[in-house]
Amino acid sequence: MQNIDDYLGQHKDRFLAELIELLKIPSISADSAFSQDVLDTADAVKSALQKAGCHHVELCETDGYPIVYGEKIVGPELPTVLVYGHYDVQPADPLDLWHSSPFEPVIKETETHPEGAIFARGACDDKGQLYMHVKALEFMVKTDQLPCNVKFMIEGEEEVGSNNLSIFVAKNKEKLANDIILISDTGMIANDVPSITTGLRGLSYVEVEVTGPNRDLHSGLYGGAVANPINVLAKMIASLHDENNHITIPGFYDKVEELSERERAEMAKAPFSLESYQRALDIESVYGEKGYSTNERNSIRPTLDVNGIWGGYIGEGAKTVIASKAYAKISMRLVPHQDWKEITALFSEHFKAIAPEGVRVKVKPHHGGQGYVTPIDTIGYRAASKAYETTFGKKPIPQRSGGSIPIVSLFEKELNSKTILMGFGLDSDAIHSPNEHFGVWNFLKGIETIPYFYKYYTEMKAQQ
Ligand code: BES
Ligand code: MN
Ligand code: MN
Repeated sequence: MQNIDDYLGQHKDRFLAELIELLKIPSISADSAFSQDVLDTADAVKSALQKAGCHHVELCETDGYPIVYGEKIVGPELPTVLVYGHYDVQPADPLDLWHSSPFEPVIKETETHPEGAIFARGACDDKGQLYMHVKALEFMVKTDQLPCNVKFMIEGEEEVGSNNLSIFVAKNKEKLANDIILISDTGMIANDVPSITTGLRGLSYVEVEVTGPNRDLHSGLYGGAVANPINVLAKMIASLHDENNHITIPGFYDKVEELSERERAEMAKAPFSLESYQRALDIESVYGEKGYSTNERNSIRPTLDVNGIWGGYIGEGAKTVIASKAYAKISMRLVPHQDWKEITALFSEHFKAIAPEGVRVKVKPHHGGQGYVTPIDTIGYRAASKAYETTFGKKPIPQRSGGSIPIVSLFEKELNSKTILMGFGLDSDAIHSPNEHFGVWNFLKGIETIPYFYKYYTEMKAQQ
């Protein structure tokens, strides 16, 4: 790539300033109070793609938020890269834990990011990372080095399950036809330990409701004589793991693929310090399924976690009351071959079966998706690996992640293409948490690395 260093040097302040403008718009897809902001963000992404050199851009309407589509076709005989990302963000709460306002981005130095990091909701997940692709395109177009065709598909509902995108993809196979899908919406091990994500977990997300008496009751007059939905829910949830932290839902592990000892040994080679992991989280010890390491627990093993639980009186002071209802939101992270709809049904059946007399239980499925594993013996992976090697000076380590991007397996099914997950965030960047940030170094490194992927991929395809 000619002039990438010069180009970055000359334009990096503008790149950062543009990203900061994008981060100022609170595009929270989960909260309808922000719907105008989500729409404004779609417009902003559309015009950014236009300015970067896409010759056709449009907002594709859906039943929810629009999908921003852009393309630059340089030759029908050349390969086509489809870039996917999302312009929506997670809610910013709890607001009081932010050191600066989530939608007033600031750049501050941190221990991990001595060059500074941009603090804002969406800085890493995923506005900062999608913007690397927009700027990489700008560089390739302006310096006449775009070697192949490119299509962009940036959605606004990833954080709420991508339901409308699934419909859009199934209906627009021709328009979205591509040779490889490229996504930056994951992380890497460390700035001096580059890695490429080779797996994502699937997801089943459900909400449960336990109902006891038909109204809230005085906890003295009725306590002990009727089932307390909160006590019951707590007990039911506790029973979902056994003493070894295995999940107790019958059939839950039936389709789980066990890795061979060789694969596990390979995984264990990735640099990892349990001590710094614990220190970073202020915990004295880790916790999880017996027989597996921390890195296995959070990537190749399925899990079940309560994400929220509520009911009864939670205001100031005390109120003596037995609530009529108790609720919880539960997520199950799944591994390849586990079918999320099947797991949702197993959960639902089991959860109803373990309800004691005296309560009624409802299970409401929210959303979900399949896991994904990408092979590393493909041109796509090799091109990505070579791109990292060029810009980091080190071969990247393939690593399976614990997070989920459910749409990736659907891309494979509907579009018949593999996805390359070139993530430049770090686990410590606090995505979904207060004080989310993205390293300035990481942002620029992404912009530098992406054009090499295009170059090597196009070259390798031509030699195929
Ligand atoms: N970008 C994340 C997923 C991610 C982050 C994968 C880091 C690997 C490493 C994505 O935006 C996300 O948050 N996904 C959700 C699921 C979605 C259906 C709401 C998740 O993983 O909780
Ligand atoms: Mn994301
Ligand atoms: Mn996310």
